[in-house]
Amino acid sequence: AGPSIKLNNGVEIPVLGLGTWQSPPEQVTNAVEYAIKEAGYRHIDCAWMYGNEKEVGEGIRRSGVPRSEIFITSKLWCTQHNQVEAALDDTLANLGTDYLDLYLIHWPIHLNPNGNHPKLPTLPDGSRDILRNWKLKDTWAQMEAVLKKGKVRAIGVSNFSERVLEQEILPYAEIVPAVDQLEIHLYNPQHKLLAYLRSKGIVPQAYSPLGSTGSPLLADETAAAVAAKHGLQPADVILGYLVAKDIVTLPKSVTPARIASNYAGALAAASKLTKEDVELLDGVAASGKQKRLIMPPWGVDLGFENWP
Ligand code: A2P
Repeated sequence: AGPSIKLNNGVEIPVLGLGTWQSPPEQVTNAVEYAIKEAGYRHIDCAWMYGNEKEVGEGIRRSGVPRSEIFITSKLWCTQHNQVEAALDDTLANLGTDYLDLYLIHWPIHLNPNGNHPKLPTLPDGSRDILRNWKLKDTWAQMEAVLKKGKVRAIGVSNFSERVLEQEILPYAEIVPAVDQLEIHLYNPQHKLLAYLRSKGIVPQAYSPLGSTGSPLLADETAAAVAAKHGLQPADVILGYLVAKDIVTLPKSVTPARIASNYAGALAAASKLTKEDVELLDGVAASGKQKRLIMPPWGVDLGFENWP
């Protein structure tokens, strides 16, 4: 097993995981099988909403590596906040496993199951599908219940700002979230939020670490310069920079060569980057490059900095 980080309940999470958002079902089985069998991954990041859990599960089985050696995360979709165990059971059936290593609340937003999400209409008040009277603490209590039942080894959140954690989760939580999975990368480093998470013992996870579709970060000049200095590729530096900061990093690819190079390259870069390199990369966003790339259509204020 590669390097891992200890969560606040003692569970070890591999620091690199394969992202599966926007991985087409017809390609993701091979991608997951390859990642585990050939490239060294032992951690797959999934979500019910991605619509490909069955195919991910098939890839995990085809890898031949025992379930107990693989860390599987999935996420509760926004229409399921009042029925966590049923939603989890659906995800477990999709993946073909009887437990998850980590289960996350995907977004701090409750959507009407009978509304027309995922293609939310652009209503003037933006509110038709959002159930504003549902309390997140009730969803969290249901997350704690499935943990206690042994159906998951750890629970956490995703896309939760400091404000949402402080006001809607931590005052009521019996169990502190193990992770907060966020859009974290060179152009959206969220330094303040990360410092807050560290102070609470919540491990940050980075999705879209390369900038998602089209991987726009790969053209960054600072990353290229740091990469050239160490004989690395820009992707290695962009991923290894996060790993060096003890952020669980989740690059997505369905391309075998990239799946392999992302894993090996990120670990190589994490060991080669100096303190000065990391400080330089930490400053890239503030030098005029700050850019959040993933913004959901419901457009409500989630309490994040730099949310246009
Ligand atoms: P693909 O899946 O077709 O290989 P992120 O991890 O930020 O979500 O980025 C994922 C995007 O970046 C996908 O479009 C993926 O394409 C592409 N990608 C992943 N790894 C690399 C890489 N090493 N070099 C170039 N593009 C990459």
